[in-house]
Amino acid sequence: MSSTVVTGIAELVTCDGTGPDLLGIQPNAALVVEDGMIAWIGPAADVPSADIKIDVGERVIIPGFVDSHSHLVFAGDRGAEFVARMTGQPYDGGGIGVTVAATRATSDEELRRLLASRIDELRTLGTTTVEVKSGYGLTVADEVRALQIARQFTTETTFLGAHVVPGEYARDRAGYVDLVTGPMLQAAAPYARWIDVFCEPHSPHAFDAEEARTVLSAGAEAGLGLRVHGNQLGPGPGVQLAVELGAATVDHCTYLDDDDVDALAAVAETTVATLLPGVEFCTRSPYPDAARLLSAGVSIALATDCNPGTCYSSSMPWVISLAVREMGLTPAQALYAATVGAAKSLRRSDIGQLVVGNRADLSVLDAPSYLHLAYRPGVPIARALSLTGSGETPAE
Ligand code: NIG
Ligand code: FE
Repeated sequence: MSSTVVTGIAELVTCDGTGPDLLGIQPNAALVVEDGMIAWIGPAADVPSADIKIDVGERVIIPGFVDSHSHLVFAGDRGAEFVARMTGQPYDGGGIGVTVAATRATSDEELRRLLASRIDELRTLGTTTVEVKSGYGLTVADEVRALQIARQFTTETTFLGAHVVPGEYARDRAGYVDLVTGPMLQAAAPYARWIDVFCEPHSPHAFDAEEARTVLSAGAEAGLGLRVHGNQLGPGPGVQLAVELGAATVDHCTYLDDDDVDALAAVAETTVATLLPGVEFCTRSPYPDAARLLSAGVSIALATDCNPGTCYSSSMPWVISLAVREMGLTPAQALYAATVGAAKSLRRSDIGQLVVGNRADLSVLDAPSYLHLAYRPGVPIARALSLTGSGETPAE
């Protein structure tokens, strides 16, 4: 068993829940990693010896970001749709069909290559765990292959056969729900940890409350954890359904009424509200009030939702800067939501916090303080730290 010591940490942001902002910051710290797990954290002056030494050069170390919502298995491009939205055309989910057609027409090898390059990209931006959804196949074979490919990169895979009703089922919505909850679920479940549904009565392509309930109940029966796309395009039933069924998370939460906020606060131990401000940015939508959610006692997470339609960005630092600028979070609250909050939405406690026994998923900031995540929007200061290198220089 080899051990690695990480030194030169000017500010170690553990996110361990201590201190006034929960970030548990330790100045001039060091950290020892054994077999990919954190074995020791303490003052640099007390650092034990180790086989490999990585000196990060007086930079900041944070827990790697947990991007708990993405749709990275896709082919094709919808840049023209983005431009149309910037000039006022509203988003209604109709463009998903364009990506479904392009994805179905792409080989396994090419889809795998596209996903690999997107995963490389998000690591260079500081993300160390990513959840990946299917949802651009919408046939049994295409959904299964999306999950099989995603499974090669992450254990956090989500079956999203209920993304939209595909064109060939436009006149037979019930038939499509039967397919999703029957043969498609049966074939997909071995490759998925989660099931998700786009519950959105404001989109003619997505699913209403009863359809979504049917999908989620079947997923739970098959042993999958529940995630929900809800309240994205207008007030709707997604939040209440997620709360009622004990989903781990309800994502978007763009349009919430007081009852939604109260319901989320009541289940804060088990159900997270995942906010995706990159979507509001890229669809010219209003931002939800994250500060209001926190003061009501709701558990929140931040994620990218990286997808070709509503937010083609894999940048968690950008999401943090948006959350601070547009949703009323402090930089500390935004970082906590992008690490601990997102880990909670995946029902994981081994990631998101740098404590002894957790995974050594570290990201390094080329900055004197974590505040620079919000203070330097658009500047690539964060990257995942590779612990496989040896020698004194920063990894990568
Ligand atoms: O989370 N809302 C549903 N699904 C994605 C968008 C997918 C797309 O437009 O391709 C979302 O915003
Ligand atoms: Fe999404």
